[in-house]
Amino acid sequence: MATSPAPDLSLSLARLMDPAVLADPYPLYARLREEAPVHWDPFLHCWVVTRYADVHQVLHSFSADRTPSPEQLRMLGIGNIEPIAEVMVKQMLFLDPPRHTQLRKLCSTAFTPRRVEQLEQRVHAIADRLVDRKIGSGQMDVIGDFAAPFPAIVFAALLGVPEEDHMRLKAWSADFAEMLGNFQHNVDRVARVLKSTEEMVDYFRRAIHEEERPLADGLLKSLVDAEVDGERLSEDEVIANAIVVMVGGQETTTNLIGSGLLTLLRQPDKLAQLRERPELTASAVEELLRYESPSQHTGRIAHEDTIVGGTLIPKGAAVMAVMAAGNRDPERFPNPDELDFERADNRHLAFGWAAHFCFGAPLARMEGRIAFRCLLDRLHGLALDAECVEWRENLGLRGLKALPVAFDEA
Ligand code: HEM
Repeated sequence: MATSPAPDLSLSLARLMDPAVLADPYPLYARLREEAPVHWDPFLHCWVVTRYADVHQVLHSFSADRTPSPEQLRMLGIGNIEPIAEVMVKQMLFLDPPRHTQLRKLCSTAFTPRRVEQLEQRVHAIADRLVDRKIGSGQMDVIGDFAAPFPAIVFAALLGVPEEDHMRLKAWSADFAEMLGNFQHNVDRVARVLKSTEEMVDYFRRAIHEEERPLADGLLKSLVDAEVDGERLSEDEVIANAIVVMVGGQETTTNLIGSGLLTLLRQPDKLAQLRERPELTASAVEELLRYESPSQHTGRIAHEDTIVGGTLIPKGAAVMAVMAAGNRDPERFPNPDELDFERADNRHLAFGWAAHFCFGAPLARMEGRIAFRCLLDRLHGLALDAECVEWRENLGLRGLKALPVAFDEA
């Protein structure tokens, strides 16, 4: 009896599980864009879209409602992760209009540009304080000593919870991000992610109800008080969306700083350019977001039969939109593999697009500018301590485990 040929693994995104591909996924993305821009991935059981125009179309018009409901999980025999799904189905990231629009509007009243602006001085002080701790020693792990605690402390300030809680917030976020960033799930880690989710929900519920220490002014209090046209968020929605804002904003910002600095260290002429011309900092942050996108891909579902890049994607099919591949598409960006801080028209996809465009982009941009300026202006003679950099196993939220650097002792 004839057997069907084994499916071709060479273009599958599953190859990201190979550490060598994870260290440099861009050749795989280039092959996908050229050979199979709208690709049925037999290992992931979804379509993978890599050209800028196609990623844009998917983000613009496909459904974001992709989280299995608690009932579906029970039917699949993985009901044990139900508490995680209960949280995810209430998060704006996984909802379509009209609920997405209402929820985002309510959350936006709590997260205004003014609130971000008011944080700016504190964000500068937090960055300086973290560098102060290490500047005398001539070396640091940029991830552990700076890029990881930095957004966690900023978040404690933003939320209005005590700063000393930031290590817990950080650990919970990293665990929950495994659910957001990965298409493969490590069964050995489920118990840990579950525990973190339960602790996080419990933490926010207590903070809301704490009688002895009423909620300080901040995002959490504003989410509780938010009201648009007589509508308010339920307590479960406040908690679920406080979690998505916190998780969405932590891993990504850590990775922007870590992967961005590694890129600069590997291209010393660019690092020198940025040192000499601080006025390029804002555009350098945009270029680093395009070049080494912290959020590499995201999922969607086809509402209806839809043609993307000439290929029919049937109704109900799952699609992986690879923003990091679209961001290196030569049809959209001239010399896409070149880092160019003066790139004209840099409308990258690193913050997504359309209705789900990153809710925290103004804060992320501000943190990025402050972090790079602080590191470049204060650490002289900055150099990689070792070339053996290791990437974290989170395939979607791309970032380094550690980034050891040396610099002149102050
Ligand atoms: C460099 C940093 C960041 C990057 C690269 C990033 C990237 C993204 C991307 C790609 C999306 C869209 C996902 C999709 O369409 O499926 C998104 C959405 C989101 N981001 Fe960010 N993000 C960053 C920082 C932040 C910060 C600082 C916050 C919070 C203050 C935040 C909160 C959110 C939220 C809540 C959403 C969901 C928006 C919605 O569904 O309407 N992000 N982000």
